[in-house]
Amino acid sequence: MLLDQPANVSLEDLEKIVRPLRAAERVAIMSGAGLSAESGIPTFRDTGNGLWADVDPMAVASIDGFYRDPAKVWAWHNDLRSRLAGATPNAGHRCIAELEALLAPAEVLVITQNIDGFHQEAGSHSVLELHGTVKRIRCHRQCGFAAPWEDVIPERCPSCGALVRPDIVWFGEALDSETLERAADAALAADVFFVIGTSGVVQPAAGLAVLAKDAGALVVEVNPGETNLTEFADYSARTSASEFLVALCRALRSAC
Ligand code: APR
Repeated sequence: MLLDQPANVSLEDLEKIVRPLRAAERVAIMSGAGLSAESGIPTFRDTGNGLWADVDPMAVASIDGFYRDPAKVWAWHNDLRSRLAGATPNAGHRCIAELEALLAPAEVLVITQNIDGFHQEAGSHSVLELHGTVKRIRCHRQCGFAAPWEDVIPERCPSCGALVRPDIVWFGEALDSETLERAADAALAADVFFVIGTSGVVQPAAGLAVLAKDAGALVVEVNPGETNLTEFADYSARTSASEFLVALCRALRSAC
């Protein structure tokens, strides 16, 4: 569905977003790896230093890869976990958390593809983790066992004896149906839907922005570059997540 080319949002044009935002009853913010890039965490597909630049995601982040070589999958995830352990949420995460207060009584829901837990750490209270989290491990058979991901990990599920794995959705696996349903409901109900720091190449996450657009939401993309979702955006802010979000929260505070 080709829409008019989005008006590029310069930071001075924020007013075009602040006005509908202040009138909104439901706001959804979908985030991707670009939001955490400013915390020092490489994205997946950015040329040069993307996490997928020098490793095959099907070998280290897919269900087939886990069956083939679970130790290799654990090693890659342990390396990512240690990178994340040394990083902290950035101003973009903190501004998204501040939107809950700035837009109250509107509902503000974060729908993240990220597994770093930074939204919760920055203070967001309503967060849907579409792809799971590096903070938790679970039974591969999904018998119900789950636990915080700490240094000592049981080889086998203490409840049923199946393999234990990171509580992360891998390539070749379905998303948690309840989480996806809640995310889709939020996209359908959103008055304003932000798409921040994602290339929009992975489904079903990327489809949520199209769902929101089709349902009448104002879609705002924040990304230094064009993406698969640009054509569905009413506005595209060609800037970094933190620069846009800091300016947006400043504008909302002054409009209070
Ligand atoms: N601010 C905003 N966006 C940024 C920034 C920044 N500072 N830096 C980079 N970006 C943008 C890039 O332009 C790119 O469009 O972030 C996007 C990152 O895209 P990907 O690396 O594809 O990450 P993401 O879209 O989150 O990937 C989705 O793919 O591999 C799977 O499960 C993984 O959740 C991940 C999913």
